[in-house]
Amino acid sequence: MADTSVAGNIPASGRRSRIAGVGGYLPEKIVTNADLTRIVDTSDEWITARTGIKQRHLAGSHETAAFMGAQAAAAALAQAGVAAASVDAIILATATPDEAFPATAVRVQALLGITTGFAFDISAACSGFIYALSVADSLIRGGTASRVLVIGSEVYSRILDWQDRTTCVLFGDGAGAVLLQAAPAGGAGILSTHLHANGAYGDMLYVDGAVGQRDRPGTVVMKGQEVFRHAVSKLSAAVDEALEANGLTHADIDWLVPHQANLRIIDAMGRRLSLPPERVVITVDRHANTSAASVPLALAEAVNDGRIQPGHLVLMEALGGGLTWGSALARF
Ligand code: UT7
Repeated sequence: MADTSVAGNIPASGRRSRIAGVGGYLPEKIVTNADLTRIVDTSDEWITARTGIKQRHLAGSHETAAFMGAQAAAAALAQAGVAAASVDAIILATATPDEAFPATAVRVQALLGITTGFAFDISAACSGFIYALSVADSLIRGGTASRVLVIGSEVYSRILDWQDRTTCVLFGDGAGAVLLQAAPAGGAGILSTHLHANGAYGDMLYVDGAVGQRDRPGTVVMKGQEVFRHAVSKLSAAVDEALEANGLTHADIDWLVPHQANLRIIDAMGRRLSLPPERVVITVDRHANTSAASVPLALAEAVNDGRIQPGHLVLMEALGGGLTWGSALARF
């Protein structure tokens, strides 16, 4: 994947953006479903049957969104063969920033030793990476930036109610990153992104507090069944939208890299696309739902183990609190 071309030399009129490197970071500590039965009234059988989750990684005190994001970003830079100093922008999606400000992206910038360019966070819950990728793609195609680190990094373990079995068993911590860089139009790259939001569904999945609310940091609240229904219908429409926009069909897709919330939703999406299970990247069994980190973590895994190869067409999609949802289609 190493690319030593000078991304900035490609004129804005003839560019697209392409994923030049991927990276992931997972906390050392693994918590199994059996471990959770000691905290809440649940069972491995229930969690496995309803979600496909077997374990999750949970962050230690030093493993913040910035720390994990920087680890994932460093891996993406190393894979791309790109020096940190040549990065123009860092966009980090998170619902669990280290601080209200500066943006966690700015903390990552400092951890990577970058002192130029710009950096900011995006808040779009589980769709955050797709949103960040879309913004980064626009910045590159418009000529504002040539190399952008796009990161999803989450420590949901800090915003879960560990007495609430309906939510605490579902999430895990981690970070994923890609280095997006300018590439000639017509070759490998991001073919399209489509973003959606509908705040009418804001109470379906939310955190009931924030740093701006004194003494109410908040924990995750979810109407699981309702979110499930919306996930299947909205993501089905989103994948059709992505394929239609590019004049492609289900048969053209080599890999589906879906948001990893629930194996039943992922299976439904795979069936909807007539994709055999071995063409769907699954990490939910080992990572649980890492929100904005789930798509880049899954992508990094499938690139690093050689499943995703140059030339492959990869469809990414996610839905989360907002509701927000969207897709990104990329040729590797
Ligand atoms: O990442 C953002 C997007 N999020 C999603 O896409 C999540 C979408 N939703 C889901 O994945 C599923 O709705 C859940 C996994 C959250 C829940 O699965 P479900 O099949 O919809 O279960 P349910 O909420 O209908 O609950 C069924 C039963 C309830 O008991 P009763 O009322 O039938 O007696 C729950 O109290 O399961 C019970 N239950 C549990 N039992 C054991 C709920 N949580 C647990 C638990 N262990 N952890």
